[in-house]
Amino acid sequence: MQTITVNTASGAYPVFIGSGIASEFPSYVNERFKGRRCALITNPTIDGIYSSYIDVLKNELNCVVHTIPDGEKYKTVETWNGIIDALITFGLDRKSLLIAFGGGVVGDVVGFAAACFMRGIDYVQIPTTLLAMVDSSVGGKTAVDHPLGKNLIGAFHQPAAVWADVNFLETLPRRQFIAGYAEAFKYAFLGGRAMFDFMECNKAAVLGGGSDLLLECIERCVRIKAGIVARDEREAGVRALLNFGHTFAHALERFYGFEGLLHGEAVLWGIACAVSLAKETGALPRNYWGDFDEILQGMPLPPLPSAPWIDEIYAAMFADKKAESGQLRFVMPVAPGEAEASYAVGEENVRQVLKEKFAHWLPE
Ligand SMILES: NC(=O)c1ccc[n+]([C@@H]2O[C@H](COP(=O)([O-])OP(=O)(O)OC[C@H]3O[C@@H](n4cnc5c(N)ncnc54)[C@H](O)[C@@H]3O)[C@@H](O)[C@H]2O)c1
Repeated sequence: MQTITVNTASGAYPVFIGSGIASEFPSYVNERFKGRRCALITNPTIDGIYSSYIDVLKNELNCVVHTIPDGEKYKTVETWNGIIDALITFGLDRKSLLIAFGGGVVGDVVGFAAACFMRGIDYVQIPTTLLAMVDSSVGGKTAVDHPLGKNLIGAFHQPAAVWADVNFLETLPRRQFIAGYAEAFKYAFLGGRAMFDFMECNKAAVLGGGSDLLLECIERCVRIKAGIVARDEREAGVRALLNFGHTFAHALERFYGFEGLLHGEAVLWGIACAVSLAKETGALPRNYWGDFDEILQGMPLPPLPSAPWIDEIYAAMFADKKAESGQLRFVMPVAPGEAEASYAVGEENVRQVLKEKFAHWLPE
């Protein structure tokens, strides 16, 4: 088992990563949070697959269980309110501990409930998707969606610990695995040359899942994210790099009405677009183009639900909360493993990239 410490201004916490480590979780909680009441929050999918593990937690911890509906469309104030109702009904108090058992949706909404209940209580994350292991469970961003936009209501609230057991990925549907891979792949472009080379050399093995290299990939991603969060907990600077590929991705998700394309799938397209934009604008020197062509080769770009419209996708970029004062911010690679954020990208460059990437969809 690897332990990575995330140091933030609001405290330090461990991320435990390994294979089969979930069995050690109850004794960890009993030792570190001795005598505290716990509420485990999960969804019916996880509850169905891992009911025997949940029974173990119920028996070994002073633990009640509350389930929330499965899916991004339930990452809402109503679901958050249902959790708060349950915590009050169960009689939990300021010393109680929440356990988020699931993917990024469960983690985000439970984290936000923990941030608000009794003005903030402890919570731990047991991520069960690749996306949640490499990204959402670490860093303390918690939120629910608003009908007018994703993650518009939320708080920064760091977990007390994260337990990432790769064995949970064995039951994860392939499509969800690839969506999580996108967020791991992203670190190749901002985590330094060593990470770029690691992802380039091992992409097939990591994508294949189930290998020690997948475990190593998760560890590397968490280390990079922990380093970034330690420097910039509240996204005032360097943390913005984690949005690599996301300006394009969010616009695509919005264009498709948040249906038909998973977030990570949109991120894969976003990464491809961000690299093209860096070439187009000159941000990425020509001597690196070969390296980038190589790493992008074989990237599992998913099919799009329907023909993309360049005008609408471009307009959708301005609806994103990452567009500040009407200015678009793009994170672009400048060298293998290095990226920079820029507000100075011309509309014609962005349109050119969209045209080039989606050329086969456009009328002759
Ligand atoms: N807080 C952050 O920093 C951050 C970062 C990135 C993404 N996010 C958020 O994460 C969310 C996406 O997370 P996600 O991709 O994990 O989606 P998700 O939580 O919706 O999980 C995807 C699907 O897989 C199922 N599932 C989860 N684990 C499983 C397992 N082990 N076996 C079988 N099925 C399993 C879930 O029930 C769900 O149906 C989005 O809401 C996004 O905004 C947050």
